Amino acid sequence: MKKIVVLGSTGSIGTQSLDVIRREPEKLSLLALAAAGSRPGLMAEQIREFRPSVVCVYHEDKLPDVKNALRSLGMDPGEVSFLTGMEGLKTLAALPEADLVVTSLVGMIGILPTIAAIEAGKDIALANKETLACAGRKIMGLAAEKGIRILPVDSEHGAIFQCMEGVRREDVTRIWLTASGGPFRGYTKEQIEAVTLAQALKHPNWSMGAKITIDSASLMNKGIEMIEAKWLYGVQPEQVCPIVHPQSIVHSMIELKDGSVLAQLGPVDMRLPIEVMLMYPERGRALMEPLDFAKVGPLSFEPIDEEVFPSIRMARWSMQKDGLFPACFNAANELANEAFRQGKIGFTDIFRLTEKALEKLDAENISRKDYEIQEIIEMPERVRRYLGFDDTN
Ligand SMILES: NC(=O)c1ccc[n+]([C@@H]2O[C@H](COP(=O)([O-])OP(=O)(O)OC[C@H]3O[C@@H](n4cnc5c(N)ncnc54)[C@H](OP(=O)(O)O)[C@@H]3O)[C@@H](O)[C@H]2O)c1
Repeated sequence: MKKIVVLGSTGSIGTQSLDVIRREPEKLSLLALAAAGSRPGLMAEQIREFRPSVVCVYHEDKLPDVKNALRSLGMDPGEVSFLTGMEGLKTLAALPEADLVVTSLVGMIGILPTIAAIEAGKDIALANKETLACAGRKIMGLAAEKGIRILPVDSEHGAIFQCMEGVRREDVTRIWLTASGGPFRGYTKEQIEAVTLAQALKHPNWSMGAKITIDSASLMNKGIEMIEAKWLYGVQPEQVCPIVHPQSIVHSMIELKDGSVLAQLGPVDMRLPIEVMLMYPERGRALMEPLDFAKVGPLSFEPIDEEVFPSIRMARWSMQKDGLFPACFNAANELANEAFRQGKIGFTDIFRLTEKALEKLDAENISRKDYEIQEIIEMPERVRRYLGFDDTN
């Protein structure tokens, strides 16, 4: 029985992870769960169903809501041990009985709990892509030192992971990272200037949390994934090739030096890539209808228009600059993504603000490759300064 901690249990990946655990009761069990506390009713339902020994409600002021929701479900909150804040997340991540930690928090808040889990020797099922995008060098170094596995939950990186099995790293020439293209595929520069939040929230293929849905529309998500791919698979920035594949059936591909291409295909359902990593190295049962190729229809591929989506160019440049640049790229996007969702800026301001933050960092002439984790943690503050953001905007 694999004992699992889910950080971010109430989100899109978190609820689907719990669904996978629910459907593999002989193999997987939920040891602990954490969330911010903004969905107390859902958290209470999860606690009642899975009876985790420890729960972290990040925002302490939300703890009474979760306890009240539990009471209204007929459960005594005294049966559960509750923690709060970052210390709570780190404690959960390092629970001695845990075998695997699913990091499905959204944003840079995921970095420190992931480090705590690795330091405690836990394997990571990594959904929180901001962690590797910002601190890939440190995280991969620490994971190697501790001998733990980073199992990527993202469908693209999960696909590459599966293609890589049995392949020598030095034989890999390129990684083809597929992208649906999002709701604005085929838009011109003029058209994308005018898009609204409601349009950006309508992803053609996937149902996901709000932040990643906007990142998918801006292709900032693909940029973040390019940086992750570099760290996960030890390739150079120019070996990571994003490509639009609107059907999202081919989850990604690798090219080998003899010209062979290996791909992983599957239904458009995140529970499958989650299940692959939660069950690894075993294979679990089929949770959904497998693909029927007689019905799939044509599969197509097209290049990304980097004039319309400068996210790709900025991600590549940040990877090449290395050091603090990817964290700056990610932190600026995180800030701009939130401002866009709050209606404070337009869609293409996400690109402009990210570019501006990268230029400001570049002007400081910081060219070292290594950094301290504290510098990464402080990056959002630095970016706010670069962009002239204060609490009123
Ligand atoms: N959704 C996908 O299909 C998908 C695919 C690949 C990768 N990812 C990545 O997976 C991560 C999660 O994405 P998502 O779509 O599942 O996001 P989401 O639906 O917004 O869920 C985020 C989860 O994190 C929790 N959370 C946020 N801040 C927290 C904090 N300070 N302390 C504790 N918990 C906190 C939320 O709790 P509350 O509910 O209480 O707010 C929620 O449980 C992101 O990094 C995303 O890029 C997502």
